[in-house]
Amino acid sequence: MKKKLIIAIDGYSSCGKSTFARAIAKELNYIFIDSGAMYRAVTLYCMRRDFIGKGNINIEGIIRELKDIHIEFVYNPDIAEYETFLNSENVEKEIRGIEVSAHVSRISQIPEVRARMVELQRQIGVFKGIVMDGRDIGTVVFPDADLKIFMTALVEIRAKRRYDELINKGVNVDFEEIRKNIVARDITDENRDISPLRRADDAIVLDNSRMTVEEQMTWVRQIIEKKINGS
Ligand code: DC
Repeated sequence: MKKKLIIAIDGYSSCGKSTFARAIAKELNYIFIDSGAMYRAVTLYCMRRDFIGKGNINIEGIIRELKDIHIEFVYNPDIAEYETFLNSENVEKEIRGIEVSAHVSRISQIPEVRARMVELQRQIGVFKGIVMDGRDIGTVVFPDADLKIFMTALVEIRAKRRYDELINKGVNVDFEEIRKNIVARDITDENRDISPLRRADDAIVLDNSRMTVEEQMTWVRQIIEKKINGS
């Protein structure tokens, strides 16, 4: 039987990590996990419970209810994709909106939230044959991952990609707002105390500013081949 890998894809927000990770998973017939969607689902839960105020967050409330937050990825055969479910409700569209995006960095800084998400992510990882994208997958969640890729791209290009993605999904957004949100998230992701975004020492850097998904796939295919065949 072919060796099954754990592939960790980390990097800045809106670099196309999920698109790339999803394409790899499809090609290898692996499970794809968008760990950012998990933090987004927790954030949506907190918003609905009014745990997020203008300046303050009800951390005790969040910690108390962490056990009531159930996140699943359910396959939708109509679009041939997995969608995020929060307590049995499909929240795929809502978690991509600007409101969740504006709060998710703060929620993902809470140590108890991170500990719970990492625990869930590792449980999924025991099966191997998985591609997971996020910020701390190669550094914290799977430090022994078989392949680690660290993705980056120019801010303007990332903002344009996010903008197009949301417009295509029918979400009404402003380009400048998206750009500012990305810059702000880079700063919080890199500077938070717990699991800050950083490249694992053994991660390969991929700057996809000027690359199509197919070009990225051509690049990664050879690397994966070597990993599977152990050469
Ligand atoms: O990849 P994304 O933009 O959907 O991620 C949403 C937020 O979640 C982002 O602000 C960083 C955070 N996140 C994280 O802290 N750790 C991860 N493994 C994935 C995402």
